[in-house]
Amino acid sequence: MNVAIDIADLFAIGFFIYGLHELNSPATARRGNRFAMAGMVIALVGILIRTQGIGWPAVAAGIAIGGLVGIYAAVKVKMTAMPQMVALYNGAGGGAAALISTIGYFIASHSTALDPVVAVSLVLSAIIGSISFAGSIIAFLKLQEVMTGRPVTYAGQQVVNALVLLAILLLAIWFVATLGELPIWAYPVLLGFALLLGVLFVLPIGGADMPVVISLLNSFTGVAVAITGFEIGSNLLIICGALVGASGTILTVAMSRAMNRPLTNVLFGAFGAAGGTEPAAAGGGPQQIRSTGADDVGVMLAYASKVIFVPGYGMAVAQAQHSVKALADQLEKRGVKVLYAIHPVAGRMPGHMNVLLAEANVPYNQLLDMEDANPEFPTADVALVIGANDVTNPAARNVTSSPIYGMPILDVDKAANVVVLKRSMRSGFAGIENPLYEMPNCSMLFGDAKASVDALTAAVKAL
Ligand code: TAP
Repeated sequence: MNVAIDIADLFAIGFFIYGLHELNSPATARRGNRFAMAGMVIALVGILIRTQGIGWPAVAAGIAIGGLVGIYAAVKVKMTAMPQMVALYNGAGGGAAALISTIGYFIASHSTALDPVVAVSLVLSAIIGSISFAGSIIAFLKLQEVMTGRPVTYAGQQVVNALVLLAILLLAIWFVATLGELPIWAYPVLLGFALLLGVLFVLPIGGADMPVVISLLNSFTGVAVAITGFEIGSNLLIICGALVGASGTILTVAMSRAMNRPLTNVLFGAFGAAGGTEPAAAGGGPQQIRSTGADDVGVMLAYASKVIFVPGYGMAVAQAQHSVKALADQLEKRGVKVLYAIHPVAGRMPGHMNVLLAEANVPYNQLLDMEDANPEFPTADVALVIGANDVTNPAARNVTSSPIYGMPILDVDKAANVVVLKRSMRSGFAGIENPLYEMPNCSMLFGDAKASVDALTAAVKAL
């Protein structure tokens, strides 16, 4: 029977790896998810069979409750709240790894000293899992706006963090050196310090950087789970944990690169601590802004030969993706070439815009990555910016003092005309002004993105 379950585990792992591979393209991503789901079902059945006789009803109840929560979240949670949901799920993974280690320790410490391999893996998975759990909860609270999304900083912060880390390391060394034969208070104190470090680690990081942090914590959870696999002898956990750890690390690096910021700057730079959400009065910016109306923009779009849509976080907030597709259909009927320029960190999570536009059945071949989109702007008649801000900010190219200097951006300002759809002059997530709005080829169409796009469709139809 055990051999059969081991083979089933191998199938589950194969399904996970193939599922991940299929996520490479929006065209195959749905199939990838289905393969991963099938892998999970196989893995869960294997676990149920393994736990026969030792409380499998409790395991079955856990699977049922977890499954129901998952279904509820999948149906109810809005796309814009996806990052905080991922943070919670990630925290649950890290917390589970720490709990398994803790229970393992308290069961073992009643009998004999630990095996050295078990002692090392137990203490590592407890520490890393706890950091990931506590850090993910703070990330969730920040993104859900239960607490401030701004970096929380204070004098001597790095020193405090370093001291907590040192305490953890000393306790961990003591734990391994004595093979777990510690005074009763030591293990709870170790866990407490690890949880505290998770909180302290995420507090000084701003809301805009949270997706990067969640991805990093995700890789921590993967590592903790893989180490737990060594502790309890589960190949499934070792391989799945390694997959999560590796993919989380790759994603973290990719996001940092897309913002042209070293990871150390994301983690320790307290980006956005001093930023405001209102544009500064200095520089006479607001007076130079040109506001326009849907009818004028409708004419501009209808008689264009190439229009590039640039979606951003505002499109997600307004849930305007279906309206955007309807506008594109109207323009295409008139022979206008429509393209979509997708910045790698547009929105609030990787692939945010791709997922929304796929939901609205926008053909994949019209979605251009930043590298392919930028050469198209100089020959475009209109760049229609739909709720995007930071990812179009030309200050990133030429204002060396800008906090986003060096971040690759979409060169919308190189189009003949730029029309920006947003509700006000408020800044984007980075909390900084956007000089694009003062450029002579740029005009603003104020209002909710969905209402504005619907008005544009009506204006084009009326021509
Ligand atoms: P943002 O710069 O955040 O700008 C979004 C704009 O949408 C805001 O200026 C807002 O202006 C407008 N908006 C909000 N609700 C709207 C609505 N209902 N209708 C119309 N407009 C609306 O978005 P972006 O350009 O997509 O940039 C993403 C930001 O997130 C970047 O700073 C990026 O570095 C950061 N970030 C993203 C990720 C990932 S993975 N995506 C990871 C880390 C950081 P009004 O309030 O005036 O309407």
